Amino acid sequence: MIMTDGVRPMPADINEPNLAVPEYPETLDLMLEFIRNQGGRARFDEYMNEHLFSPIGYYSARAEIGEDFRTDAIKPFFARAVGQYLKESCAKDKLPPNILEIGGGNGHFKRNLLQNFPFFSFTAFDKSPKLAKEQEGQVADVTRLPLADGSFEGIIFSNELLDELPCRILQFENKNAGYVAEREERPDIEFDDDLNYSYFPGTPKVKEEGFVEERNGELALEFIPIERNPDGTAADPFIAEYERYLIETRSRVKDGDIISVSDRIRLMMEEMKRVLKRGKILFFDYGFIGEGAGIPRGSKELPYYYNGQNHVDVQDIIKRPYEVDLTHSVDFGYCKWMADSVFGESATVSAGEDRRVYEQIREPHLRNLYQSSPHTFMDHAEEPAGYLEIDVDIEEK
Ligand SMILES: C[S@@+](CC[C@H](N)C(=O)[O-])C[C@H]1O[C@@H](n2cnc3c(N)ncnc32)[C@H](O)[C@@H]1O
Repeated sequence: MIMTDGVRPMPADINEPNLAVPEYPETLDLMLEFIRNQGGRARFDEYMNEHLFSPIGYYSARAEIGEDFRTDAIKPFFARAVGQYLKESCAKDKLPPNILEIGGGNGHFKRNLLQNFPFFSFTAFDKSPKLAKEQEGQVADVTRLPLADGSFEGIIFSNELLDELPCRILQFENKNAGYVAEREERPDIEFDDDLNYSYFPGTPKVKEEGFVEERNGELALEFIPIERNPDGTAADPFIAEYERYLIETRSRVKDGDIISVSDRIRLMMEEMKRVLKRGKILFFDYGFIGEGAGIPRGSKELPYYYNGQNHVDVQDIIKRPYEVDLTHSVDFGYCKWMADSVFGESATVSAGEDRRVYEQIREPHLRNLYQSSPHTFMDHAEEPAGYLEIDVDIEEK
């Protein structure tokens, strides 16, 4: 791997772990100051980035993964199942056994994997200086990898990285979503000659977006109407693009639904395309695929924190900034749509609803974990997990 040409330096502040970590209520004052510096209101993704990744943020300076919350990466069987799959993939696709893990937390996956598969060459990048140190990796953001163009061949892997990319909170309106109308009800529409009815997927539009602002000395989530151009398109290019995605994929977003989604997904895909010469990208996370197959979307997908027992709402998390994790359900459908658009012909993309990877990795993993029969193990899964797999310049599957 070439580490010199084309290397993009990281901003200085996140390379320097801040040793003095303030606690509440000082943290509230610091966040209020941040919000005031943003003009009195921060778009939610800006708040989330500050909460998690400012030098005093949760991931930069505080996270104790395994104590604060648990992940699959902590369980040795996960690395064994994933490692076996990656070993077979490398052999089948004639890939060098190189693994680039992004967002590896405190390095459990790396340690468990190398214990069982010591032949993998392993590189670890994490945005958190604290966690990068714990996993003996380097500090780097997935949207700015310190690698030269086309310098990596192998597997790019992550577990629970996508749900930490700062997200936008979008509230929709879709008065006519997903309904069937009779011919006489819609004289304005051309019907198929043979049919007296037709299905209208509707045209979901973002109505409002979530911001964090100061209210009576505390922080509160506020929804603000979005701006539109005279032709009706959203003024914000990301919102315009997300609306295009929903319409192209005939999404059934209903009036009043909320979706949390990260606009960093595009930057991340472009960065992986830049550095990856040939190989596989395999990301696991929690989230949803459209409305269907296995991982349904809830109507209010707001950011949250889950410690294994309690689900904490975003309104409560922002009362004590920087203190706990802040995450969101990943829109895998959008990730897949974006990967298809960024990688184009050079990649084969699959996500959540295609159960191939899920069956090979997740199911044996859960079966082992709960020692139940192949037919009942799903009953034990706490939440449905999803995956995104992108094969880049691999001819045969
Ligand atoms: C939920 S933790 C998961 C850690 C580990 N993969 C596991 O499963 O235990 C998310 C990890 O992603 C890292 N991370 C979040 N955003 C990142 C980014 N933009 N670039 C690189 N790492 C990031 C965090 O610092 C943290 O280590």
